[in-house]
Amino acid sequence: MRHFLSTEDWSRNELQGLLDRAAAFKSGVKSRSLEGKSIALMFFNPSLRTRSSFDIGAYQLGGHAIVLDAKGATWPLEFSDGTIMDGSEEEHVREAARVLSSYVDLIAIRCFPQFKDWASEREDPMITAFAKHATVPVINMETIVHPCQELAHMLALQERTGGPIAGKKYLLTWVPHPKPLNTAVANSSLLIASKFGADVSILVPDEVYRLDSRYMDSAERFTAEGGGSVTLTTDVEAAYSGADVVYAKSWGALPFYGNWDEEAPFRAKGADFMITPEKMALTNNAVVSHCLPMRRNVKIADAVVDSPAFMGIEEAENRLHVQKAVMEALALQGGAE
Ligand code: CP
Repeated sequence: MRHFLSTEDWSRNELQGLLDRAAAFKSGVKSRSLEGKSIALMFFNPSLRTRSSFDIGAYQLGGHAIVLDAKGATWPLEFSDGTIMDGSEEEHVREAARVLSSYVDLIAIRCFPQFKDWASEREDPMITAFAKHATVPVINMETIVHPCQELAHMLALQERTGGPIAGKKYLLTWVPHPKPLNTAVANSSLLIASKFGADVSILVPDEVYRLDSRYMDSAERFTAEGGGSVTLTTDVEAAYSGADVVYAKSWGALPFYGNWDEEAPFRAKGADFMITPEKMALTNNAVVSHCLPMRRNVKIADAVVDSPAFMGIEEAENRLHVQKAVMEALALQGGAE
């Protein structure tokens, strides 16, 4: 049984197949591939796009979605094996995953890291436990990666550029934010751009913002096998010069994970990293995007967000189409009904 936990586990051809199916849905193709089926959408964190697009996508495929608020409306969950459950957690994933599997055909999980201990949180323990104990496919709605966002981003890029992004200059730029954020979308931007053969530059205020070695190593492997390159840089002008794609994300520096006061001086070095018209003027007429939600005039200046170069709205719309492709592929694995 196949899950959709990370695009690392899916080949470029398989991902392109999902993108092609998503493009067909977007062009008006109808399917009832979830007829009589249901999906549990379990949210440990807030959402606007993910919650709406999964619910509506399931409906459009003839299925039924139930939304579970895991931070209030369901029992607090434990994921560690062998734990003496004498704290606040009332239920173990071992039971919750099996019980939900007896009701629904798909389980989707959003569970951000706790920002306490990266050594354990980089193992993505909650969704890994769900995938281990569920007897139905599990979909990642954002944990320490955001694979559905990756597909939506790649579909928007292929639509905008009219084809593959192999050989394009792809800039993932750290941008300012008042507080340290999850690295999930940055990891995902790196994974999908490298898997599709782009020349990826990761622009950071300081090398302490290097992404986890798991994702840096995967990206190096993807480009070694399929073309493209990966570079970490602090040179703003060189990074923007000639870029075809600019993707904005803020994240916390992993060496200071859970100890953010010490990160502050490094964060201050990126105070001028907001995407502005002046920086965009250095690019090769690049498209620019962000996963949303996004703080205007902190991460990206109004003049850029409101320009034709901004494709964040298309990317957000594509969440609906790509997730329909993912739900259909997972629900029908083993044979169409
Ligand atoms: N990009 C994204 O996942 O949006 P939400 O957090 O609103 O779901």
